[in-house]
Amino acid sequence: MPETRSRRASPSGMVRWKKESGKPEDAPKKARLKELQVEILALQQEIRRVTVLTQRKVQQLEELSRFSGLLNSSLDLREVEQRALEATCRLLSCETASVLLIDFERAELFWHTALGQAGKILVETARLPIDDRSVAGRVAMSGERVVVADAERDPRHFARSGELTGGFKTRNLIAVPLYARGRVVGVLEAINKRPVGAGFEPEDADLLESLGHQVAIALDNSRLYQDLRGSFYDTVEALAESIEKKDSYTGGHTKRVVHFALCIAKYLPLNQEQVERLRLGALLHDVGKIGIDDSILRKAAPLDEAEWKVMKRHPELGHSILGRVESLKDVLGAMRFHHERWDGKGYPLGLRGEEIPFMARIVAVADAYDAMVSTRPYRKGMDPGAARDEIVQNRGTQFDPRVVDAFCQAFENEKMGQRTKGSRYAAGD
Ligand SMILES: [Fe+2]
Repeated sequence: MPETRSRRASPSGMVRWKKESGKPEDAPKKARLKELQVEILALQQEIRRVTVLTQRKVQQLEELSRFSGLLNSSLDLREVEQRALEATCRLLSCETASVLLIDFERAELFWHTALGQAGKILVETARLPIDDRSVAGRVAMSGERVVVADAERDPRHFARSGELTGGFKTRNLIAVPLYARGRVVGVLEAINKRPVGAGFEPEDADLLESLGHQVAIALDNSRLYQDLRGSFYDTVEALAESIEKKDSYTGGHTKRVVHFALCIAKYLPLNQEQVERLRLGALLHDVGKIGIDDSILRKAAPLDEAEWKVMKRHPELGHSILGRVESLKDVLGAMRFHHERWDGKGYPLGLRGEEIPFMARIVAVADAYDAMVSTRPYRKGMDPGAARDEIVQNRGTQFDPRVVDAFCQAFENEKMGQRTKGSRYAAGD
């Protein structure tokens, strides 16, 4: 006798099957049973689908949260964009992504950051008008997202991108506007859904828009920071210039010391932040001369012993003027200790060797070199080659040997040996 099975729900909710006999009155039950089996299969498929979808959403949320943290961890515009684009590719499963920004002066869009070699070419070469002739132009003009399912057939597709990038083919893309304080400042694009053959879904566009909001905020923060940083540097430069104006004989000494220090830095293992600190330190190295009496500062003759004593106060004066400026605390060492000597016979504190901040040891060489090659009211500047030899002779006594070695490399390779035209230099460098 054939057997059928009926469904019984256990107290735990699990479905169990029980053997039944094949009597004629069981036929409706069998039909119902089959219906139930189909329903269960459909339910199981739906559960699997929802589970996959939920897992994907959770991953996206985790990625979004990481993304937000990443964006807020840096104020460097390029770094922010690079991270944003990498996260966009992960989140939307797309081949590449780019950020285009608006050049408001020229009313054009330009690729600011784009991933890969093709993106690098676009960043360097391509510009787009803000109008209907390109997808990004359309987004920048309208402030609304655009989804392109087939780029080859879309008249707005920037066809020259393939030509410029050596054959990179855009299959499909989504472009969303980047809004900062109420106006469109750029466009974020996600290009070529993965795998090949797949298309972007409506939820991809929503997701890219969410990313776009965060990118725009991060970009805005980064820009505000850059503006603030710019104002800070302008103030520092104005301060440095004020000493040049007060001391007419310096004739660009500060700028030359900055230049020489940066030339030397190229041959030392310094990171970008350290180089920036060196630049500021060199810029401010003599700012304490603001507090030195004009009769000494402008004296067109060598200083006597008493005058030298006063002049030697300028590093400490500079420190007392700027010591309270929190944002300068990392650069003050270069200013305060640029007259210290490697052998400990310098001033103001007589520090020796590595006790002297490294930046100050670099400024010391740059400062001494410029002082030697500059013409003073009472003597002609030295020949650059002779000044170089003098620096080398004082390697390990007045100057840090490592800095002198870097200076020699810079002297050979960075045109430091060329005489600076019209430079005059005041007494008491
Ligand atoms: Fe000085």
